Amino acid sequence: MQRDGFKTRFGILAATLGSAVGLGNIWKFPYMTGENGGASFLLVYLLSTFLVGLPIMISELVLGRTAKANAITTYYQLPKKNKNFWSLIGIGGVAAAFLILAFYTDVAGWVYAYVYKTITANILSTNPEETSKTFGSLISTPLTSLFWQWLVLGVVGLIITMGASKGIERTTKKLMPLLFLFLVIIVVRSLTLPKAKEGLLFLFSPDFSKINAQVVLLAMGLAFFKLSIGMGTMTTYGSYFRDDANIPATATKVMLADLSVSLLAGLAIFPAVFTYGYEPQAGPSLLFITIPAIFASLPGGRIFMLLFFLLASFAATGAMLSLLEVPVAYFCESKKMSRTKATLLSIAILVALGATATLSFNVLKDVKFFNLNFFDLYDFISSNILLPVGGLLIALFAGWTWGKEKIFTTLSNYNTLNNQKIISLYYFVLKYITPILVFIILLKGLKLF
Ligand code: TRP
Repeated sequence: MQRDGFKTRFGILAATLGSAVGLGNIWKFPYMTGENGGASFLLVYLLSTFLVGLPIMISELVLGRTAKANAITTYYQLPKKNKNFWSLIGIGGVAAAFLILAFYTDVAGWVYAYVYKTITANILSTNPEETSKTFGSLISTPLTSLFWQWLVLGVVGLIITMGASKGIERTTKKLMPLLFLFLVIIVVRSLTLPKAKEGLLFLFSPDFSKINAQVVLLAMGLAFFKLSIGMGTMTTYGSYFRDDANIPATATKVMLADLSVSLLAGLAIFPAVFTYGYEPQAGPSLLFITIPAIFASLPGGRIFMLLFFLLASFAATGAMLSLLEVPVAYFCESKKMSRTKATLLSIAILVALGATATLSFNVLKDVKFFNLNFFDLYDFISSNILLPVGGLLIALFAGWTWGKEKIFTTLSNYNTLNNQKIISLYYFVLKYITPILVFIILLKGLKLF
């Protein structure tokens, strides 16, 4: 049987970008930038993206395309020695996929719920108390928040059963262009708010006093999360790439487009934060309590708000497809399950694991580990430990073990692309800079030395 894969160049780009662009841009990026000092955080994030994120993304894509297999098999098949050790990358990746999805589907559920709420009721208000109350009542009601999470799992599971080309590629090809269109419309509205300038100043003027080792780890963790790297998502997607795809160019495009979406989301949210007196440090609720204010004073505001939450739901859905594909591809190929069975099994795991994240805002509120509830714990372990450790191993494997010659032949598509200079630059950064940076930031950030 022939292996499924992405069929067109645009499809490859849409699917990969669909994985990168998600709640990381629209939800995490703005609130983390807000909590950690604005522009100085942004600067560290940018450096991590260029020096750590892009090299690892290129590596994952090319390793996956070469092995043409799921994440675990790829890191078992490609090494000549120590196969069991390197395949830990894939095993950790499958575990990370479940952990991330456990809290990601919860937030995606809030987004879906806001689409529904915007259609059925008027929840627009410029009063921070009002909008916080609306959000609070959603997350504090156990069955309601679980219901939305299950709906999300159902939608994503359904698309995944259709496969890489008919499910993932077809869906993201439609959603990605719409997402950009809606986002631009919304930014224009936000920039015409009275205090737009304060918002922009906050986002773009650095406060270096906020930077410390923990903040650097958070920024790097966000870069990993944003680019969907360090756990085999990009490896799995790479395995669906065509042999003539230009991987360094595709990765660079995806990185830049992803960055633009994050910045645009910041431009959409911060002007409103300052105009209506919200706290830029509001944390994970920031998106849900500010957006209803941005559109409240605007004629036709509800339509705009609907566009916004639709956009966020498209972004979240594209990203979740890529997360779920990691275990599903593994179960199908290595455990010989049918796609439907593999999806059902993954969804069943997520219903259970996801509930612990969702209920951590109500019934499980007081269950804490290291002072974190389940939701925050899953987020912390995945972004700040599993992804960087996975990324470090991927960089070490690609840069030091797999070998220079393999890298140059596969990334130039057997010398059919004229990109030797770019590959040389990538190879140098991957081999000498990326692993050292990740290693130091991890140890310092986790206070291990
Ligand atoms: N990048 C996505 C976002 O920003 C989330 C995501 C998808 C992800 N696949 C991933 C994060 C793999 C880490 C690893 O929302």
